[in-house]
Amino acid sequence: MAAAHPLAFPPPSGRPARLVVLVSGSGTNLQALIDAAADPAFGAEIVAVGADRDGIAALERAERAGIPTFVHRVKDHPDRTAWDAALTGSVRQRQPDLVVSAGFMKILGAGFIDAFAGRIVNTHPALLPAFPGAHGVTDALAHGVKVTGCTVHLVDAGVDTGPIIEQGVVRVTDADHADGGEALHERIKTVERQLLVEVVGRLAREGHRIEDRKVWIPA
Ligand code: GRF
Repeated sequence: MAAAHPLAFPPPSGRPARLVVLVSGSGTNLQALIDAAADPAFGAEIVAVGADRDGIAALERAERAGIPTFVHRVKDHPDRTAWDAALTGSVRQRQPDLVVSAGFMKILGAGFIDAFAGRIVNTHPALLPAFPGAHGVTDALAHGVKVTGCTVHLVDAGVDTGPIIEQGVVRVTDADHADGGEALHERIKTVERQLLVEVVGRLAREGHRIEDRKVWIPA
């Protein structure tokens, strides 16, 4: 049997897992987590929402739900390392068990990843390892794939390269080529929201262990 990876994540006992969610846009994945966390059986509470920009719908969703927010814009810091340190500090202050990158459109720096290693979950709108990066939906479409989907994975130092936790599949139709991938992305997001809620809930309640690249969540 392979040895347990040192980054195994034990779930907190006797209390809900503390989540910090990072966002950059409309925040529909965040909303799905907010709705799920309203049920104590979900096993997690969102203690803060962080963003890399102001004036986004995701922050309004957090505020409506009474969740504290913070914003760190790259342009307000002398360089990316300083921005990453500020983001790391704000997240660390909330003492999260898990950090969820839900449509956060910045690459996290080495300092951030070290601080929360094995506990950062990202959602990506393609079937990794195919089509990583910021244009996963349109890259898949341009390649002519017939199925695509979404991937919930742990974050490591690469771009969308971390161990895969779960994936959801979405069929591509001929009509998807007509609108630049908008309708396809919406169908992916419908699957993605359910998958993210399911995975984050399971991690919060059961934890995980990693063997080689495989993430195991106890049944
Ligand atoms: C999701 O598809 C996510 O995977 C991608 O951007 C989208 C964010 O959507 N990176 P939302 O802000 O949660 O509505």
